[in-house]
Amino acid sequence: MGQALAASIERQSDLTVAGIWRRGSDLAALLADADVVIDFSLPEGTELVVSAAVAARIPLVCGVSGLNEAQMLSIQQAAESLPLVYDRNMSLGIAILERSVREASASLGGDFDVTVSEVHHVHKKDSPSGTALKLGEAIASARGESGTGGIKFEAERRGEVPGDHEVTMRTATETLSFAHSVTTRQVFVEGAIRAAQWLVRQPAGLYSMQDVLFRNYDPAGNSRK
Ligand SMILES: NC(=O)c1ccc[n+]([C@@H]2O[C@H](COP(=O)([O-])OP(=O)(O)OC[C@H]3O[C@@H](n4cnc5c(N)ncnc54)[C@H](OP(=O)(O)O)[C@@H]3O)[C@@H](O)[C@H]2O)c1
Repeated sequence: MGQALAASIERQSDLTVAGIWRRGSDLAALLADADVVIDFSLPEGTELVVSAAVAARIPLVCGVSGLNEAQMLSIQQAAESLPLVYDRNMSLGIAILERSVREASASLGGDFDVTVSEVHHVHKKDSPSGTALKLGEAIASARGESGTGGIKFEAERRGEVPGDHEVTMRTATETLSFAHSVTTRQVFVEGAIRAAQWLVRQPAGLYSMQDVLFRNYDPAGNSRK
């Protein structure tokens, strides 16, 4: 993700890569020249990125999944002093899917059996995917449930699949399905860049792709800031 991100930014005339963090390189020095940080490392890397962004007071876009409770807490605390987008899926399609399943769940209530299934490449470290959990959490909260215990998760690891997700809501008489599939991880890169461009104009706070896409969005006028 880091390499794809750097390559995409280099191709855009209005953006510049201020630096790329690698193991052993000086993160604080790198942030001195940056307007925004985009983190696609792994949870232990994110801990270092969050504290460096807070120290330098630089907006942070973080897409790392599999963070534990303490790491999530540090994200929330950082967002008290800087603008921060955290999202386990930066694709525009998943943001729309999340919104759709939230609305469907709020209308249907708990009578429907919900399954969230996902397929990813064999190199993926976390399971179920952060996106599957995020969709499950959105459904549970829309149904007024405190956790995802009432939702079934299915995960499959196969070949080089970049990411397929499907949410199925079922009763004995009806089945409703919502599916999303990406053919290239470039969609996450583009979503992260869009989030970064939006974030530098925002005050301190914790945001998600829902905010990047829908905050200030007027469906009637299609105006988006
Ligand atoms: N939100 C989204 O839309 C989205 C999309 C795709 C992926 N992701 C998430 O993004 C993360 C990265 O995915 P990926 O597929 O690019 O993983 P990856 O290929 O394993 O790359 C992770 C990179 O982070 C570096 N890194 C990890 N820990 C570090 C540390 N402590 N200090 C310095 N560098 C560190 C690794 O360096 P080394 O090579 O030296 O180990 C590697 O370059 C994962 O959490 C994945 O789930 C999110």
